[in-house]
Amino acid sequence: MSAFLLATDLDNTLVGDDTALTRLNRYLEDNRQTQNLKLVYITGRSLYLYRQLAQEKPLLTPDALITAVGTEIYFAPQQNQFDSDWASRLAPGWDRDRLTAIAAHFADLELQPLSEQNPYKISYFLRATTAEILLAQLRSQIEEQGLQAQLIYSGGQDLDILPEKGDKGLALQYLRQRWAIKPEQTVVCGDSGNDIALFCGPERGIIVGNARPELLQWYEMNPRQHHYLAQGHYAKGILEGLAYFGFFS
Ligand code: GLC
Ligand code: MG
Repeated sequence: MSAFLLATDLDNTLVGDDTALTRLNRYLEDNRQTQNLKLVYITGRSLYLYRQLAQEKPLLTPDALITAVGTEIYFAPQQNQFDSDWASRLAPGWDRDRLTAIAAHFADLELQPLSEQNPYKISYFLRATTAEILLAQLRSQIEEQGLQAQLIYSGGQDLDILPEKGDKGLALQYLRQRWAIKPEQTVVCGDSGNDIALFCGPERGIIVGNARPELLQWYEMNPRQHHYLAQGHYAKGILEGLAYFGFFS
């Protein structure tokens, strides 16, 4: 039986409305038994913060977990099986020390907690009022020094500096290809800036109705037939989108 893949962001996409989450969980559990459905969570959170959320909310156990904005992949998460093959792909062109040194010149960048830093992710808090100008300056300093990095701003407060070769979208592509699942049988779901990369591939996409302005703006400027902007918020929007795409019937 050919497989389906549902890859969803957690905060403010899957999680946000407990009643809808429970309904979606039930629907997914039914389809996991009858269809060959693989479930992947793709979150900005570290494994540490993911575990906190999993204690607070009734999350199903995913087949794989992509954490830290696509920079880490774990299989069978309960066993903490870290994918070192994926990690090794992030290294080319990445110079964490020099990027950190450049960012240190910007007083408005406030380092996030240590749990949210990893060898391929440097994360700061950054207020929306200063973000636009600061990001442009930071980008030009990185380029001037001949370095490569992605600057991903989400939710009007979080800045992630990531390798060119690592983000949510690239991590998902890697998993999908590894499992040999077709893009037409894959659906990605998100709500904010760090999910934009998820919508850059050929997979079906659901943008939940409560999406942040940065994602809505991107959606308006990049209209694609295989994306669906839901009216429903959080898990309700996911259920609505799955019905729109005719998954998994
Ligand atoms: C999560 C992570 C944080 C990141 C943010 C946006 O909140 O904990 O490190 O900056 O997602 O990607
Ligand atoms: Mg989110």
